[in-house]
Amino acid sequence: MQQIKMNLPGHEYNLFIERGLIKASSVIICELFKCKKIVIVSDKNVFGIYGKTVVEDLMVHGYEVHTVILDPGEESKSIENLQYIYDKLLGYSANRDTVLTALGGGVVGDITGFVASTFLRGVRYIQIPTSVVSQVDSSIGGKVAVNLKRGKNLIGSFYHPSAVIIDPEVLNTLDERYFYDGMAEVIKYGIIRDEELFSNLEGYKNKNDILANIEYIISRCCDIKKEIVEKDEKDTGERMLLNFGHTIGHGLEAYYDYKRYTHGEAVAVGMCEISRIGEQLGLIKKGTKDRVKEILEQFHLPFRIEGADVEKLINIMKNDKKSFDSGLNFILIRKIGDAYIDKLDLNDVKRLLIAKEDRNGINKN
Ligand SMILES: NC(=O)c1ccc[n+]([C@@H]2O[C@H](COP(=O)([O-])OP(=O)(O)OC[C@H]3O[C@@H](n4cnc5c(N)ncnc54)[C@H](O)[C@@H]3O)[C@@H](O)[C@H]2O)c1
Repeated sequence: MQQIKMNLPGHEYNLFIERGLIKASSVIICELFKCKKIVIVSDKNVFGIYGKTVVEDLMVHGYEVHTVILDPGEESKSIENLQYIYDKLLGYSANRDTVLTALGGGVVGDITGFVASTFLRGVRYIQIPTSVVSQVDSSIGGKVAVNLKRGKNLIGSFYHPSAVIIDPEVLNTLDERYFYDGMAEVIKYGIIRDEELFSNLEGYKNKNDILANIEYIISRCCDIKKEIVEKDEKDTGERMLLNFGHTIGHGLEAYYDYKRYTHGEAVAVGMCEISRIGEQLGLIKKGTKDRVKEILEQFHLPFRIEGADVEKLINIMKNDKKSFDSGLNFILIRKIGDAYIDKLDLNDVKRLLIAKEDRNGINKN
């Protein structure tokens, strides 16, 4: 079993990665907690496939196991569901020794973490992430949140799990669209930090190739996230590199009211567009944008803005919660594997997003 240790001030915990681990998560949980009660938070899809296995495994070890099952989907990361989960916990007489377990994708992980950070002023929780996004990104680093009607992740905190239990085999049951959606974040890690990961991804021609190398992919992404989060836990500096493609991506998600693109798809478009802008401004090694575009196509991801009103999109980007009084930060790259943070003139961004010549160029490829 691979173990990656997160070393943060006051929070040390391990990420455990192994095929089939979901069937034996109790081994890790028993080592960590002498508690009586465990409450599993999951969604209907994931619990329907893996719930019985996880519950039975824990019950064999004498835990009293309770469950809270949400509807699948982003709408579940809501204030209403916070109230629902708190009520369930009180109904189960959960106390400060009770351990919460998030079994699911990023939605379940984010809301469970937020509940853990607030219920009785904080209880312990573990993550058993089951989607690509959650295994390489959302379960690591302690960002927990719920959405408001007016925007995503607007209410949240930093609250780390006691362990992250990653079983790559569960990705076999993940819907194809969500699988590639998560691969957008994997590609992002390669672009910002690891040329070798990026070139290896270029060599994976289909889903079978990816799955054959999935432990390497997950552990490399977790390593990069660990390294960045340890340097900047509270997201005021280097951690912002993880937002490569996200400024345009978040804008696009909101522009289409979260209906047209999944998060990963919108980030994919954002990564390609910002690479194109960087190349046109002479900031990037020539040919980089084409490599980004080609890998996105290979992984069935979109790579250009189609039909959106750029002026409206830029206005949405300006209101992003990641913007500061001083303006909007963009994550830029010099070449694959080398990212940095800088401000761009929004007039340049607008002009280049609209630029027809290059758009035609892209269409020809
Ligand atoms: N906290 C962070 O640092 C962070 C980072 C990135 C994303 N996020 C958040 O993560 C969320 C997106 O996560 P997601 O993409 O995992 O979405 P998700 O949790 O909605 O999961 C996607 C879909 O896949 C299903 N699913 C998950 N695992 C499965 C499996 N093994 N087999 C079958 N079906 C499965 C789910 O039921 C759901 O329908 C967003 O809310 C985003 O804001 C948080």
